[in-house]
Amino acid sequence: MKVEGQATMVGVIGTGHVGLVTCVSLAEIGHRVIGYDQDPEKISQLRSGSAPFHEPGLRELLARGLASQRLSFTDDVADCVRGAKVVFICVGTPPRAGGEANLVAVERAVRDIARHADGPCVIVEKSTVPTGTAARVKATMQRENPERAAELVVVSNPEFLREGQAIQDAMRPERILIGAESAAGFETMRRLYGPLIANGSQVFEFDVSTAELAKYACNAFLALKISFINALARICEQAQADVVAIAEVMGSDPRIGRAFLDAGIGYGGSCFPKDLQAFDRVARRLGYEFPLLREVARINDEAVEAIARKINDALWNFEGKRIALLGLAFKPGTDDIRFSPALVLASKLVSEGAHVVGYDPIAEHNAKAEMPQLEVASSALDALAGASCAVVCTDWDEIKQLDLSEVRKVMAEAVVVDGRNIFDPDVMQAAGITYYPTGRPPRRVSP
Ligand code: UGA
Repeated sequence: MKVEGQATMVGVIGTGHVGLVTCVSLAEIGHRVIGYDQDPEKISQLRSGSAPFHEPGLRELLARGLASQRLSFTDDVADCVRGAKVVFICVGTPPRAGGEANLVAVERAVRDIARHADGPCVIVEKSTVPTGTAARVKATMQRENPERAAELVVVSNPEFLREGQAIQDAMRPERILIGAESAAGFETMRRLYGPLIANGSQVFEFDVSTAELAKYACNAFLALKISFINALARICEQAQADVVAIAEVMGSDPRIGRAFLDAGIGYGGSCFPKDLQAFDRVARRLGYEFPLLREVARINDEAVEAIARKINDALWNFEGKRIALLGLAFKPGTDDIRFSPALVLASKLVSEGAHVVGYDPIAEHNAKAEMPQLEVASSALDALAGASCAVVCTDWDEIKQLDLSEVRKVMAEAVVVDGRNIFDPDVMQAAGITYYPTGRPPRRVSP
């Protein structure tokens, strides 16, 4: 699966999750890629083949790219842009206090490209950006380098990478979305992704605004599904009904689909919370109030509150009680703790006087750096030892496979609140553990 005789010189600005995965996957299919980051330490780490975050398969592709010399890294943005036929903008777009995306890094990247481009070049918005950004990009290029601006083509190419599966998603994307305003833009992107398209990826070609908006629409709709099932979970808890069974019924209808109907502690990560807020602000700017998006976020906050209420039901008071959080990453397969519901819960419990001990197979260092007052254990059983309650926050296989008799033995009180519905209520009850699932009737075991 390689380009044949058509390797493109590619520059990638920003080597975070999206940028680095873009670098290694494009090098893997045969392009010559230079990744730029302003952080020189990160660049030397990348040059030595070490990945700055956990992503299955990343290290291997990084090593292969470096060994083939198709992939290199620089902390000089001019090196990244000069000679490149395509430059990807993969910088962060974190939320501002008001919720809208902060595009300072995008603007800086555009200025750098305009300043250093030395020939016709396609500039690709890969970072998730608000509708209307492409027009700003063009205006900035015009201002920065009026002689060259006509040679610089702007393309929107949103990513659909899932953390923990990002390499697989990049190498075998279900869909490739290209927003462009000229045939040259579409042609360059089709050539760039040629091997992936030949391998069966579906290509959508639209205008730039449609592509920019499509990305927000996808993430918002997925978050909506999660909040719908979480709201239903609250109702099920009152009705003594089973949300998992209802999700099965709903999911058996192909018009609905079973995916993203797992009730629990809610969504986190660097995408859904931020994109939902940014989408809400974009809609408002365009003259449409979209309170549904705010409601999705509110229900997501409520999911953490619901877990806290169950802990409260089990323990009465939090003060002085040891509570074990099993899983700290926002989902399994990643060490990313950004907007992780586990940490939202941890700070709530700590602020109410609980002694919180977290465990995560790979995210413990990131969690500790984010929340120094959190005690971090080196194994799940260490976290559980002496705890009056355990909360499943991330559905890691390692947590699913815990030996329940050991769990019951080491805990001070055998109470498990399951924020991911990973255990079978009958099995928990048989193991002598009081079990609070999400959206299903609790099983109380008398002491
Ligand atoms: C998400 C999208 O799935 C990707 O398509 C998109 O490219 C990416 O955002 C992005 O914009 O960059 P990601 O944030 O990696 O990917 O994570 P997801 O797998 O979508 O999960 C998000 C959160 O929802 C996690 O906290 C997960 O535990 C939670 N979730 C997911 C549920 O609570 N219930 C579900 O049924 C599914």
